[in-house]
Amino acid sequence: MELLKMKNIVKSFSGVTVLHGVDLEVGQGEVHALLGENGAGKSTLMNVLAGVFPMDSGEIIFDGQPLTDLTVKKSEHAGVAFVHQELNLFNDLKVYENLFLQKEILTKLGTLDKKKMIRETKELMDELGVDISPTAMVSELETGRKQLLEIAKALHTNAKLLILDEPTTALNNAEIEHLFTIVNRLKEKGKSFIFISHKMHEIFTIADRYTVFRNGQFIKTGNIADTTPEEVTLLMVGGSSSASEVYHTRELGDVVLKIENYSGPGFENINLDVRKGEVIGLTGLMGAGASELLQSIFGVNNADTGKVWVEGKELKGGIIHEAMANKIAMIAANRKENSIIPDFTLLDNVSISSHMLSMRKMVIHKKKEIGRYNRMKEMLNIKSAHGYNDLIVSLSGGNQQKVILARWLNTEADILLMDNPTQGIDVGAKAEIYRLIMELANQGKTILVNTLEIPEIQKIADRCIVFYHGHIQKILERQEINEENVMLYATNVKGAE
Ligand SMILES: Nc1ncnc2c1ncn2[C@@H]1O[C@H](COP(=O)(O)OP(=O)(O)OP(=O)(O)O)[C@@H](O)[C@H]1O
Ligand SMILES: [Mg+2]
Repeated sequence: MELLKMKNIVKSFSGVTVLHGVDLEVGQGEVHALLGENGAGKSTLMNVLAGVFPMDSGEIIFDGQPLTDLTVKKSEHAGVAFVHQELNLFNDLKVYENLFLQKEILTKLGTLDKKKMIRETKELMDELGVDISPTAMVSELETGRKQLLEIAKALHTNAKLLILDEPTTALNNAEIEHLFTIVNRLKEKGKSFIFISHKMHEIFTIADRYTVFRNGQFIKTGNIADTTPEEVTLLMVGGSSSASEVYHTRELGDVVLKIENYSGPGFENINLDVRKGEVIGLTGLMGAGASELLQSIFGVNNADTGKVWVEGKELKGGIIHEAMANKIAMIAANRKENSIIPDFTLLDNVSISSHMLSMRKMVIHKKKEIGRYNRMKEMLNIKSAHGYNDLIVSLSGGNQQKVILARWLNTEADILLMDNPTQGIDVGAKAEIYRLIMELANQGKTILVNTLEIPEIQKIADRCIVFYHGHIQKILERQEINEENVMLYATNVKGAE
């Protein structure tokens, strides 16, 4: 039975049409994957369904009833819950306050029944197997916990249809598996899901049916069992997909980054020599130490003991400016929290770090900047409605991520630290970014990439450092890098040597 029927939906933003009459049908008790490249219109359609944006024309039938003049309240009331692609919590509120926002439980006297709300929050978290204290401040939760809280919030609403727009970008593998168990359980109870992800293996694990959009157009819908990752990828990109090999062997230079007996928050006793032009993949379970190590090298955190040398010069720790002055750049994980400047245009978001780095050039050459922006836009295929003066928040999630990448690729840094750089990036654009990383390495840049996705490391890395509980469990040479090997070390099935 159909639960949702969206027909011929048209939506434009300031004169630019982004949905050209698309259809989407979701059955009851089904997980429906919505697929498409960055900027295809997935989140926009979900925002229409959730009453965030009004549609220009089209028809929505939900649970047998037409939905017209939708608002967020109306959509929620009808039974739609939306986990947004970008985190949408109030940092200054506690966990339970976020959960019960505008749905507060009152006592008979009409005051807030905090005790009851805290108890119910605890019960929900227990049911979901999520270890988050109801009274913790949201600002103190790490990003993965925040994402789980968002999901819990949606599950709490008793909705008939849950929209999960890239819900796993900050979750580790165990958390993703757990989320999928919950989704399957709720599915059996007749709930429906719209699931958006650029991770193909997730789609093929959890979804029953799929719909593909391309450039705001409906392309195809069908059963997951009747298709393959290759086929849907081709549908998404529209024909040609170049799955060509990116990696090639290069002559590496001298050691440019030396890490010695280095311990700090989240990592201990790291020893590592990285050579000029080398690409290193860092991985491990979330929180295993790779991200923490990169942050300390960049000066975000203070290390406790040990040393970092850049080209033979000891780096003063704990000062970002010092790292930047020594030609280190960092792409931080979780763009909304750490990277995006929402009030800035695309051009300014891209240019800002090169301003900070090039202290010599006090005059900003706008023309040059625009030229550089245009090159990046071309290379990374950044899609925006009008051009470089658009606000970054008007871009789709994956396109925002490309802008952040462009910001750092644009600097003259010699050492690039990248923490989960392809968050939310579609399959085609990912390949472009791998090619770019290889090209930069060819030019002599040294690149450290932290990611949970082993195929990503396999495509580009000369070596792979596997972390476990804050220390280096194993350094794999290129020919040893494969999913199985990495998992064995990342889970301590194979011990440190
Ligand atoms: N508020 C807005 N103002 C102007 N344009 C917008 C706005 N929101 C989205 N768009 C445009 O609509 C198009 C579709 O964006 P949408 O966010 O729906 O893509 P998506 O399929 O979710 O992509 P991604 O996988 O990157 O998240 C994009 O080109 C984007 O620039
Ligand atoms: Mg999106």
